[in-house]
Amino acid sequence: MKHIKVNLGKHSYPVFIGSGVIQSLGGLVEKYLPGYDTAYIVTNAYLHKKYCPAVINTLRRAGICAKVRLIPDSEKAKSLAIAGSLLEDIASFSRSRRVFIVAFGGGVVGDLAGFVASVFRRGIPYIQIPTTLLAQVDSSIGGKTAVDLKQGKNLVGAFYQPKLVVSDIDFLKSLTARQVKSGLAEVIKYGLIKDRRLFSYLERNFRAGLSLKAKAVGFIVGRASAIKAEIVSRDEREEKGLRTILNFGHTIGHAIEAAGKYGLYNHGEAIALGMLVCADISLGLKLITRKDFLRIENLFRKVSLPTKIKNLRLNDIISAHYHDKKFVGAKNRFVLLEGIGIAKVQENIPAGIIIKAVQKRLLLSRAGR
Ligand SMILES: NC(=O)c1ccc[n+]([C@@H]2O[C@H](COP(=O)([O-])OP(=O)(O)OC[C@H]3O[C@@H](n4cnc5c(N)ncnc54)[C@H](O)[C@@H]3O)[C@@H](O)[C@H]2O)c1
Ligand SMILES: [Zn+2]
Repeated sequence: MKHIKVNLGKHSYPVFIGSGVIQSLGGLVEKYLPGYDTAYIVTNAYLHKKYCPAVINTLRRAGICAKVRLIPDSEKAKSLAIAGSLLEDIASFSRSRRVFIVAFGGGVVGDLAGFVASVFRRGIPYIQIPTTLLAQVDSSIGGKTAVDLKQGKNLVGAFYQPKLVVSDIDFLKSLTARQVKSGLAEVIKYGLIKDRRLFSYLERNFRAGLSLKAKAVGFIVGRASAIKAEIVSRDEREEKGLRTILNFGHTIGHAIEAAGKYGLYNHGEAIALGMLVCADISLGLKLITRKDFLRIENLFRKVSLPTKIKNLRLNDIISAHYHDKKFVGAKNRFVLLEGIGIAKVQENIPAGIIIKAVQKRLLLSRAGR
């Protein structure tokens, strides 16, 4: 079992990672949430059936009773309406109990349950038990909680840190290959922005990662979580510009996701393409060598993440890009690379450079008209 700390003064918390760590959940809750007697578990029907008995049993052994609340299995669950119904549900029984929330699922469950915890009685404790690779290496750490509005994703939320994160890599075994690859895109991101050694490790061990070999996955999740924890510890609220580098590939990636109406590409595939566009721009500006650029493109290919944008038009991507909430005001801000493992934030990149880089990634230039 690996143990990482997110250092945020009195809001610090541990992240436990490994195969079978869920068995230790009850003991960890006793230690990190002393006195709390009721777990309000937010999850979906699939995860409930497959894994909840194990989670509930370990809590019971520690004298903690569990209430389970199922939410729909879709981004649509991140709504004010569902958050409101969870809040009323908790209010209906919590008077005589000391309740904490358990976010048991992927990023959707984590963002929603964290948001509910942040506002119920101005904040009650919550813990993250992430079950997707993306949630283990990214969304469960850092305290960004949110629900969506019809005007856009994640528009309502708070920075609100969990008390504990428990990442059991055994949960990942039931993910589809596509979901695993999507999470690996985020792991490649950490290698590119912060850790050349992680990138080289992925070049050598991508097969073990894709087939979820425990040793490789333990290493990958541990290293990626440590990088996320370190960045969050230094810039909790994205005020110092350090957390910005975590957005590498995400500006164009979000535009590709949106242009494909969230059905054509999943998040990891879209940000893989976004990272490649940023690598193209970095190469064009002579910030990285052609050799490093080819290594980057090759790794995405090896993992069989997309390297070309198919079935989308240039205009749709560019207009989605300008609708991104981070682009209110005329200035754009991109994370580029100065090498594998070194990120650089650059503002005001001329539109022509961005458009050319996106165009280069389109499978058919005709599709870009
Ligand atoms: N808070 C943050 O810092 C942050 C960071 C990145 C993304 N996010 C948010 O995270 C969400 C995406 O998260 P996600 O990719 O985990 O998606 P998700 O939560 O929708 O999970 C993807 C799918 O995998 C299923 N699933 C989950 N665990 C499983 C398991 N162990 N076995 C089989 N199936 C499983 C889910 O039921 C779902 O169908 C988005 O809403 C995004 O905005 C938040
Ligand atoms: Zn992401």
